[in-house]
Amino acid sequence: MKEYKRHLVTAALPYANGPVHIGHLAGNFLPADIYVRYLRANNEDVKFICGTDEHGVPITIRAMKEGVTPQEIVDKYFTIINDSLHQMGISFDIFSRTSNQIHHDTSQAFFLNLYEKGLFEERESAQFFDEEKQIFLADRYITGTCPKCGNENAYGDQCEKCGSSLSPEELINPKSALSQSVPIKKNTTHWYLPLQHYEEWLKQWIIEDHKEWKNNVYGQCKSWLDSGLHARAMTRDSHWGVAVPLPNAEGKVLYVWFDAPIGYISATKELTPQWSDYWCKEDTKLVHFLGKDNIVFHCIIFPAMLKAHGGFVLPNNVPANEFLNIEGEKVSTSRNWAVWVDEYLKDFPEMQDSMRYTLCANMPETKDNDFTWKDFQDRNNNELVAILGNFVNRAFVLMHKLCNGKVPAFHLDQKDEKDDALFEKIVQTKKDIETSIENYRFREGLFSVIDLARKGNIYLQDKEPWKKGDDQIAIDNCIHMCLQLTANLAIFMNPFLPFTAQKLCRMMKVVDRMLAWEHGGSLKLLQKGYPLNPPALLFRKIEDEEIALQKEKLSKGSQQATSNQTQVTPTASLKETISFEDFDKIDIRVATITAAEKVAKADKLLKLTLDLGFETRTVVSGIALHYTPEEIVGKQVSVIANLAPRKMKGIESNGMILMAENEAGKLIFINADGGAMNGSQVK
Ligand code: 2FM
Ligand code: ZN
Repeated sequence: MKEYKRHLVTAALPYANGPVHIGHLAGNFLPADIYVRYLRANNEDVKFICGTDEHGVPITIRAMKEGVTPQEIVDKYFTIINDSLHQMGISFDIFSRTSNQIHHDTSQAFFLNLYEKGLFEERESAQFFDEEKQIFLADRYITGTCPKCGNENAYGDQCEKCGSSLSPEELINPKSALSQSVPIKKNTTHWYLPLQHYEEWLKQWIIEDHKEWKNNVYGQCKSWLDSGLHARAMTRDSHWGVAVPLPNAEGKVLYVWFDAPIGYISATKELTPQWSDYWCKEDTKLVHFLGKDNIVFHCIIFPAMLKAHGGFVLPNNVPANEFLNIEGEKVSTSRNWAVWVDEYLKDFPEMQDSMRYTLCANMPETKDNDFTWKDFQDRNNNELVAILGNFVNRAFVLMHKLCNGKVPAFHLDQKDEKDDALFEKIVQTKKDIETSIENYRFREGLFSVIDLARKGNIYLQDKEPWKKGDDQIAIDNCIHMCLQLTANLAIFMNPFLPFTAQKLCRMMKVVDRMLAWEHGGSLKLLQKGYPLNPPALLFRKIEDEEIALQKEKLSKGSQQATSNQTQVTPTASLKETISFEDFDKIDIRVATITAAEKVAKADKLLKLTLDLGFETRTVVSGIALHYTPEEIVGKQVSVIANLAPRKMKGIESNGMILMAENEAGKLIFINADGGAMNGSQVK
């Protein structure tokens, strides 16, 4: 510590288009909060910045779905998100909003700075335009038939049925989602940031100078840089967002990924008149916490913007996390497959630390990880209740029973090797947690805390003070050690479990100041003769019924969402009649899947190797959300074998597997019943 004069810590701004779920917590808010609480405990100068991201298509789409204005959407969700995060103990110094005037001013000034230096390329291109509504359409606002699977409700950027990523040009019969009219192509001008000009500099800064960044972050940056950067439009045609501050730019706003990260700067401005010390002085350590889908924006685009502007510090680290799945499945807000923080807080009042503990223990630091309600129950009951809570409770009960409710003396002359070993463990734990947190390994840090409590239980069990009869010295020494250990545990758990640390302070009748990190590792935290409060319940047991209820809620919620979706996406109507000759052109063959693997950077795609009897070929299929690679190897399928090859994510796909949807919306194979010969024709 004290390597830097001040710290600026950010957590990615959540879109104000829905409540936050526990994936958001595990991904960025919780690690950022642990880190910040640790810095504060070390008396470091730190500002923790966040707020809601209130612009862009995610907001306008949600407004359209709820049939209200974008302003109503952001007002509603700002409040819900702000309350949820605050109640979970995420201790921001400011939680702002990108709709605030200061943010509009700051991001417009930022844009003008780059504009006046001539750093943007002004380009005209033809975009889809809704003549009826007189507005340009973002890709998401264009719907039509998916060229891959025939889904009539595909979006201009993606088909949610088959998972293909699309461009609006590929849609068959494109329509405006706003008016249902057929959009026309119309020229529009935008300002592009030529990212390729920053490529060499970025390569040096990340690939050479930041080899210490986490593998997942470093790897993603490297692959973006290796495949070459291109100019990217920093403006959009929309009426919702920060207006482009140029004459003749009516109806144009800044690209949401241009304005949102500037939100970190404007929120700091809102927080303190000293904001520029944090943003412009080289002795600031800037750390961005975020989820993996935000890596490119924080490691490539925003730094390029900061470099172009000049005068700002760059992030020292970007410890992005992977994703947290729920009960083995990817979080999906549209399918309502999520654990919403506001609902958790209602269902488990006063149990913030149980969730913080479980999420930290399963934090997706190096790979996607899973949250299950059973694991939540187990960790709460078997670790928080049975190890941590139990140790503290026993120490306090014994102190009241055997030592008159006061901290007993420690008789140095009677100290033994078990006392020494426990002391050493306390000192070592402090060092271990420091290394873990300073290197963004929060799970490891948490495990050190619980392990120390485990050692406390073993110590107490070994010493058995309740069997010591009138050997008061033995009793006193043991209880004294246990109470000092409890005080140390409060200090060590504080970044992770702040609510419990506070409860412990109340039990020990000490002020918050005791939780300063520098006090950790001492055996003089509680004075001899000091009367302590009776033990309070630190954690309560979670019953099977509560878990069953949550599981049911999860599956019911998702069923409900799926059936709502089914109503808005009725079965595709029959296509026009074709001649037998047309049909005969399609060559459908039987094949066996001999290998399957996930496609990098495409959550929905699997790369399949097919044995067609007479040849082996590769087909890329959008079924990754429905099947794991292991599940489908060996399956016999029907494949359109004479479809023109098509490149997806750089892989040439030769053919298309036939699939249909079951009632639950899962894609199932139209297979050949397993008995046909590979390569034989489907007639
Ligand atoms: O992915 C998201 O949820 C974005 N709203 C994150 C923005 S982070 C920052 F740049 F503001
Ligand atoms: Zn499709």
